[in-house]
Amino acid sequence: MSTPVLILNGPNLNLLGQREPETYGRETLQDVAARCAGVAEDLGLSVELRQSNHEGQLIDWIQEARTEAAGIIINPGAYTHTSIAILDALNAYEGPVIELHISQVHRRESFRHQSYVSRRADAVMAGVGVHGYDLALRHIATLLA
Ligand code: DQA
Repeated sequence: MSTPVLILNGPNLNLLGQREPETYGRETLQDVAARCAGVAEDLGLSVELRQSNHEGQLIDWIQEARTEAAGIIINPGAYTHTSIAILDALNAYEGPVIELHISQVHRRESFRHQSYVSRRADAVMAGVGVHGYDLALRHIATLLA
């Protein structure tokens, strides 16, 4: 049985590949999902990648993960910088949590330097581009081993 990992993506990440490609690259979220599925298989994980533009939906999925997923990789998008509710949901989750940003948020506007999610995350990855999803999967596999 492979270990289930949930990869959550917040607002505007459905536009990956079209949105500000100089910052986020040209790969789509579907491309990312396909690559993650391959990497996960090699690692003995099963991944489900989801995206929502809605804070409440992300919170519902985090709550569901309490019984359904062994670990969470989350790119909360702009909710990173604003959402105490997502932090609270992650605090109620017991497995490993990796926070991921495609861009190097600390080199960008100062409002992107603060993250509520980092208060809970076991690891934070930023600026590796979409390749960060693969690396996060590899890291969560070690945390779950
Ligand atoms: C992001 C960085 C956030 O500041 C931004 O709001 C996003 C994407 C990233 O992946 O680099 O939507 O999380």
